[in-house]
Amino acid sequence: MLRFDVITIFPDFFREAFDYGITRRALAAGLVVTKTHNLRHWATDKHRSIDDRPFGGGDGMVLKPDPIFTAVNDLTGFSRRGDYPKETRVVLLSPQGQVFTQSLAADMATTASQIVLICGRYEGVDERVAETLATDEISIGDYVLSGGEPAAVVVADAVVRLLPGALGSKTSAAYESFSNGLLDYPQYTRPPELEGLRVPDVLLKGNHAEIARWRHEEALKKTERNRPDLLKDSRG
Ligand code: ADE
Repeated sequence: MLRFDVITIFPDFFREAFDYGITRRALAAGLVVTKTHNLRHWATDKHRSIDDRPFGGGDGMVLKPDPIFTAVNDLTGFSRRGDYPKETRVVLLSPQGQVFTQSLAADMATTASQIVLICGRYEGVDERVAETLATDEISIGDYVLSGGEPAAVVVADAVVRLLPGALGSKTSAAYESFSNGLLDYPQYTRPPELEGLRVPDVLLKGNHAEIARWRHEEALKKTERNRPDLLKDSRG
């Protein structure tokens, strides 16, 4: 059983976020539990403030470290990266993180029993969180969101569907995009012809060796067109 603890200043954002599709089934099957926590719960001053002005000046507000340290301590029992058991991941979502990949998702799905997701906000998070509290600082891509909440949903979704038993068939995750270094081959379904647009003949003929060859070629073409960087990576 994998447990996600989401720390956020917008807990309502997650109210239905895990109630669909594979995540919903994984929750119902007891493969995973998700708990959302309001960071403000750990604020200590009378205004329950969770942010403050940056030292050194500059625009905007920075998320304070102390409520986050207390939150992680309450949720994991520890407040230093070096002290967690290896099954505990504490993830800070931020555009400064390493870019999230399928292999990182697979690593989490196979090794973690608790993943704490800290959603950053405003212009930043006090760096002591990334330096000494988080095991991972993760970005979901090279663009800036207004907060880590959508990124937390992305990470949780990608990990949950890789948990053993989450997908209908054992093999389906092994054959999909990225796990073989290529994008998926194109898929078609009925009708075989739509407004003059025909499904490729090879798929209608049922020659499995030819279909496999065609799919591999199309996956290569699509990867070359949309993600040439993946081909360069696999050639080293
Ligand atoms: N917060 C803001 N932008 C982000 C991104 N790209 N990934 C993760 N968290 C973020």
